[in-house]
Amino acid sequence: MVPPLNIFILSGAGVSAESGLKTFRDADGLWTQTDLAQLATPEGFARDPVRVREFYSARRKILRIAAPNRAHLALARLEREMTALGGSVFLCTQNVDDLHERAGGQRVVHMHGELNVTACTLCSGHWTDRGPLTAQQVCAECGAVGTCRPNVVWFGEMPMHMDRINQALEEADLFVAIGTSGSVYPAAGFVAEARALGVATCEINLQRSDNAHAFDRRIYGPASEKVTAWVAEVLGD
Ligand code: OAD
Repeated sequence: MVPPLNIFILSGAGVSAESGLKTFRDADGLWTQTDLAQLATPEGFARDPVRVREFYSARRKILRIAAPNRAHLALARLEREMTALGGSVFLCTQNVDDLHERAGGQRVVHMHGELNVTACTLCSGHWTDRGPLTAQQVCAECGAVGTCRPNVVWFGEMPMHMDRINQALEEADLFVAIGTSGSVYPAAGFVAEARALGVATCEINLQRSDNAHAFDRRIYGPASEKVTAWVAEVLGD
């Protein structure tokens, strides 16, 4: 008999790597190959909005042809089956892609925002948008022109949904970090918060993360393989 658990999943770019989306800090990663200060800060956007809009438009284009991999599918299965057993899965992702949702995930919280959402810097309105970001774009809410940006969290900005995330951490029986380097706070600090609450912790990653020492259990290998096997174990296959 599988016990109903409240599972908190923190996912990162490594979950989507096998779907063809680049991570940030690996050798071919986005922040290894490009200039983070220019492309992921409000100051960079103010300096060169054309370049920033082009960068995120190109990422939207790649996301349109990407598909969820076995790790996304296994996590959606975990959510479905754990919910049916009377437990829950809270999927907090640092990823701005929508692959968890496209795999069937119902309760996905994007703490770093969403690539397919455009926001207006004037009125803070935001709407789903899979097309290119341009300087000519009109805000769908206030009608301003040239104020559009991707609704992603840049360095120096506040992560989203922190109240819901903290509450879910407090309710969790198990905390699992998947495909994240553990180098960006506040997400990198969740494992310490979980431990302080007496929650069991596990990391699944290609290699040891920056805070691997903080986890009770560590599983290393490609997410498609290791997450699928871990979900099967939790569900008692
Ligand atoms: P990173 O690029 O920092 O880390 C990705 C992790 O995934 C690394 O530890 C890799 O070893 C691991 N990895 C790579 N391929 C994998 C695979 N096939 N299976 C399992 N693991 C694999 O990405 P994040 O930790 O997600 O924020 O980065 C955190 C935040 O930093 C991002 O959300 C983004 C970035 O700046 C913002 O843009 C605000």
